[in-house]
Amino acid sequence: MQAQIVALRDVTPTVREFELRPEPGFAATYEPGSHLQVQVMAAHGKLQTRSYSLVGEGDGQCWRIAVKRLDDGRGGSLAMWRLAVGDRLQVSAPQNHFALDLSAPGYLLVAGGIGITPLVMMAERLGDHARRTGVPVKMLYGARHAGELAYLDKLRAALGDDVVAHEGAAPIDFAAAIAALPAGGQLYTCGPVPMLEAVKRAWQAAGRAPADLRFETFGSSGRLPTQAFTVRIPRHDLAITVPADCTLLEALDAAGVETLWDCKRGECGLCAMDVLAVDGEIDHRDVFLSEHEKQAATRICACVSRAVGTLTLDSAYRPDS
Ligand code: FES
Repeated sequence: MQAQIVALRDVTPTVREFELRPEPGFAATYEPGSHLQVQVMAAHGKLQTRSYSLVGEGDGQCWRIAVKRLDDGRGGSLAMWRLAVGDRLQVSAPQNHFALDLSAPGYLLVAGGIGITPLVMMAERLGDHARRTGVPVKMLYGARHAGELAYLDKLRAALGDDVVAHEGAAPIDFAAAIAALPAGGQLYTCGPVPMLEAVKRAWQAAGRAPADLRFETFGSSGRLPTQAFTVRIPRHDLAITVPADCTLLEALDAAGVETLWDCKRGECGLCAMDVLAVDGEIDHRDVFLSEHEKQAATRICACVSRAVGTLTLDSAYRPDS
């Protein structure tokens, strides 16, 4: 459907909030953890799809999403930042792969940077829930600088002193926060991959049930700069360049290599390909592969992960014998 931009607001110097009104006949309702898929015109006039979490409790009239400007990204955020009030976007109906379960005896929310977006509405919903039921809710929210802590006012209104903000690079003590969570409590987290990995490690070390750790990522935060790299696929007698503004999956698709995929956010693992050789370094940006698998560098999630240098890959294609 189409949605019109009815308001823009910079919530930090690098995060812009978009208020979108769906076309007549569609209600703007949604649940915590939901996202919209938005078509954006990225570099070279290419239409690309991006997922943006819906931010905060809605009014039934409009959706709000927030977009961090990534100057070294694939161009989607810059395209969004060029839009003005009155412009129209092609969007999906809200979808939810990060639903909030209100049956737990306690909650810990952990957000890093722009990963705050799906957690704002969870904090609001859980704040109400805590006031009605007494179920404890804590939140840890980290950003590089205090000025990048978007929506802190909303979070404080929802959870008061139970929100703890961290600024700078000092590691957050996830183990202590997890230890304070009641048995059977749930942790919801969204943020950059290194933060998610640290949360997962602390959760495992505490012996908590894997199903009680719920996470979502935005698949764009790498360790290495986003730049072009080379991929060879001997099975297809192919060598291609993956440009900086294109994912490995998109480049393979453009070269006619059939791939499997689903989430395109580094979560489901369906797009994982075998790595035959690395001349350079892989920048794993998924949360599907284990740390052990990432270190072994024998698989790569093509939807989000990248490389510096040259990768030799194998596809799943097997000709009929
Ligand atoms: S498509 Fe889901 S991890 Fe790549």
